Amino acid sequence: MSAAAKEFRKVTTHSLQEMKRAGEPIAMLTAYDFTLARMVDKAGIDVILVGDSASNVMAGHETTLPITLDQMIYHASAVVRAIDRALVVVDLPFGSYQGNTKEALSSAIRIMKESGGHAVKLEGGSEVIGSIERILSAGIPVMGHLGLTPQSIYKFGTYTVRAKEEAEAEKLISDALLLEQTGCFALVLEKIPAQLAAKVASSLSIPVIGIGAGVEVDGQVLVLHDMLGMTHEFNPRFLRRYLNLYEEITSALMRYARDVKDRSFPNESEQY
Ligand code: KIV
Repeated sequence: MSAAAKEFRKVTTHSLQEMKRAGEPIAMLTAYDFTLARMVDKAGIDVILVGDSASNVMAGHETTLPITLDQMIYHASAVVRAIDRALVVVDLPFGSYQGNTKEALSSAIRIMKESGGHAVKLEGGSEVIGSIERILSAGIPVMGHLGLTPQSIYKFGTYTVRAKEEAEAEKLISDALLLEQTGCFALVLEKIPAQLAAKVASSLSIPVIGIGAGVEVDGQVLVLHDMLGMTHEFNPRFLRRYLNLYEEITSALMRYARDVKDRSFPNESEQY
């Protein structure tokens, strides 16, 4: 296959596993709307996550808990319309899969049918394994998510680093192995010590994507609005900002307001 054909080959769950085998890092970002998803796809990002972080970033909620399945489907279908190459993974929102495997399957089916997404992601290990098995039985690829799992924020109490203590680290390792054995095609590890993440990534054959989990994993994910500097109040240590769009956009909006008020917009060439 030519280099150009390889570059434009659609990303699949299998190609991600090939990337892990080849030692090629996987680039993943969130997106929640058509316009930004188009840019993310064109930039060559391998995986687009329609994260339930839309609850914070798009809707202004304090946690990811309030977002609904209908709202996730709305965001995911806009993203799917924008992409040519990336694999689109959609978060199952809080309350749509825990404790009831039948409901988990019907939530995942709704996402696949109504948004056109390519896979689902859900949070947790042994507690949700029944739901994962049932979703997989319908041929729907599942990405796992361990470490800081924001849907459990009221259990944790804070957004600090997880699995620093041995017991929690042991549970994380056994959950990661269980997710791989059950058939998850990839795993997100959020906000855990880099050494532990490296150990998990080297023990699993499926790709491990980190956020705040160091560099010795198979790929990285960030929330798009954070790395573009649009969410300026959120400053975790793991976040690298590639732009300061909060300042840029606010200053453009102020210039627009000034131009309207002093009647310098529109000028002669901007009217009919
Ligand atoms: O919802 C989300 O954005 C996520 C990432 C932080 C991994 O789950």
